[in-house]
Parts: sequence; C-alpha cells; structure tokens
Amino acid sequence: MPFVAKEYLETGTDNDVALGSNRNDLDKIKLLPQILKGSLNPSLKTQLLGRSYSAPFGVAPLGIPSLMWPRAEHALASMAAEMQIPFCLSTVASESPSGLQHAHGDMGWYQLYVPKEKELSFKLMDNAKKAGFHTLVVTVDIPIPSRRQRTKRAGLTTPLTITPKLLLDALCHPTWTMGTIRHGVPRLKTIEEHAEFKSLMSVGKFVRSKLGGNLDWTYLDTIRRYWDGPTIVKGVMDVRDADRLVKEGYDAIWVSNHGGRQSDLSPSSISVLPQIARLIDKQVPIVFDSGIRSGNDILRALACGADFVFLGRPWLYGVAALGKLGAYHTCHILKEEMMNGMYQLGIDNLTTLSQKTMIYDNE
Ligand SMILES: Cc1cc2nc3c(=O)[nH]c(=O)nc-3n(C[C@H](O)[C@H](O)[C@H](O)COP(=O)(O)O)c2cc1C
Repeated sequence: MPFVAKEYLETGTDNDVALGSNRNDLDKIKLLPQILKGSLNPSLKTQLLGRSYSAPFGVAPLGIPSLMWPRAEHALASMAAEMQIPFCLSTVASESPSGLQHAHGDMGWYQLYVPKEKELSFKLMDNAKKAGFHTLVVTVDIPIPSRRQRTKRAGLTTPLTITPKLLLDALCHPTWTMGTIRHGVPRLKTIEEHAEFKSLMSVGKFVRSKLGGNLDWTYLDTIRRYWDGPTIVKGVMDVRDADRLVKEGYDAIWVSNHGGRQSDLSPSSISVLPQIARLIDKQVPIVFDSGIRSGNDILRALACGADFVFLGRPWLYGVAALGKLGAYHTCHILKEEMMNGMYQLGIDNLTTLSQKTMIYDNE
C-alpha cells in the first residue's frame, strides 16, 4: 500500500509510546505449560452476549479501510460471515451499513462515534439496525481528535490533496492505484448520507464539526436505551469507569487504548486488564484490543481476564497483502496459532485459561 495509507494504518499518536507499550507489555506475559494431558481436543468456539462464534476474536472497527486497500470492508465483512467471527463496522468506514447488509451475514456489530446531535445518533443507529447489525459498540475514548504527526508528515489530508509526492507514491503501487481507480477514491459513505454536500471537503468538515465532543454518562444512557439491544462501551481503561459501567447495566465493556492512537499518556491496554477483570469478576464480559498480533497474544489476553479479543491493523495487513484471500488467511493464521498454543499449554477449553499460571517478565 502507498506510504500515506501505511502511515495512517500504523501510526500511534505523539511519540508512539502507548503504541510501543501495547506490544512490549504483551510480550512480557508468559504462561506455564502443563504436561501429561493425554490426547487433547482444543476448541475455539465461544459464546458472547447470547451468540456463538467460531473463535474468541473479531474485526475491530476501522476508519476508512478502503484507503489501505480498495473495498477492504467488503473483504472483511464477507470473511467474518463465512468464518463466523464478529465484524464491527465503524461510523467512519468507507462503506455504509446498507452497503454491507448482504455481506456480514449475522456477524455484524456497529460502532458508533456519537454525534453532538441526538437526532443524528438515532438516524445512524436506525440505519445500522435496518441493515442487520445487532450489537452496538459505543466508542468513548475520543473527546477530541488526537495528534497524529506521522499522518500529517505523510501528507494525509481530508480531502486528499494530490501532490507530486502522492502521485509518485500511487505510481509505485500500481495494484492499489488500479483498484482505487476502479472502485473510486475512498469516501465516508455513512457520513455522506447525512452531510449536506457530498464533496469530501464538506464531509470532512461535517466529521470535525458534528461528531463527538459532548458525550457524557447521561447521553450514553440515552444511546443505550434507544438502541435497545446489546451495547458495549469501547475505550475503557480506568477500573472506576469499568465499575460504574457495570453498575449502570451495560452489557459488556471493551478495554482498549484505541491501539495507542488516542493518548500517548495511556498505559498499555494489557497492563490494566487484570485489575479490571478482578473487579468485574465475570459480572459482564470483557472485550479487549490493542497490540494483538498472534494467536498467542489472544491466549495472553484471555489469560489476563478478557472474554473476547479484537484486532485492528492485522486484518488490513492481510487484505493489503493478498486482497480478499488475505482476510481469510489472517483468520486461519490466528486460529492455527491459537490451537497450537492450547496444545502447548495443555488445555482444550479456553475458559480454563484464566486459571493458568502467569509469569510477568519485567526485564
Ligand atoms: C486505521 C485504524 C482506524 C481505526 N478507526 C477506528 C474507528 O473508526 N472507530 C473505533 O472505535 N476504533 C478505531 N480504531 C481502533 C481499533 O478499533 C482498535 O481499537 C485498534 O486498532 C486495536 O489495536 P491494534 O490495531 O493494535 O489491533 C482504528 C484503528 C486503526 C488502526
């Protein structure tokens, strides 16, 4: 993929410290294998919020995936439907819920960036529900946009300004460029439906002026009541927030520092997970993301108290490498690694992972 897209995908924020610690802290978690378990028959099947999934992982919400690879949402949604894992569509994706209605099977979750105006929030939720998305994920960790200097330096603007550097970048990536010409420059289709004018410039302005900025506990409650279905709050890092969300009756919490893209002051998501899991004590499921790059990482997160794990960037690496097949390939790799990890640990049931002996390597 072109440099500008790669930088958008890979960036953290500010000095990328949170981005780095997400990975480093996962590597510090070691699990002790147990021996002499006879013949094992590991299973990855997982129940979450009343639904069955073939594995305890899914596709995290991703903004404008078609920038990384043309029609990436379609590739990921149809893979998720076939592989029976959840696919979470972002409010700022390059495809709208109705555009994916026939792709996601019944694996569709919808991620809401809550607009300032309630009426607009209701419209976005109505459209998602109409298109069969059944689980709502409300992202709460974006009080204002973050500072991502890497994307600025790479020349990413809304709308994309065509500079000689960008043209050269595109020419050096002919498959991406041909796909983008064939399917059109990536757009924010959900937002377009509600913006007064459809040009990328006015859609960009609409995102900056109408999305976010006034979400609080009361507004979150309004959203949850309107949705009237499973509601998960994404971007929880503080044990006190987790406690309040559980007390207020949310269906699940999603521990995440947004893949290190939002605040560089944030600790790694994995470092706060055990404390939150102890406090929640299985009252509601815990969803987790940030830095997961392998089946072993998924096992690490489950051992630290997560019930389900999502990945962001790895899906787009897969699609950018191999197109539609790359979505499947990523899923296969993760499943295979998880299965292998379970044999090595001597377990065949994921629920026993939380009793595993863990060693934190602090060197
Ligand atoms: C390119 C990109 C776009 C993202 N867009 C959104 C988004 O629109 N909504 C959201 O809730 N999270 C968004 N995220 C965060 C992911 O949902 C997820 O929290 C994060 O990617 C997990 O970290 P990982 O990429 O290390 O797996 C985005 C992440 C990336 C990499």
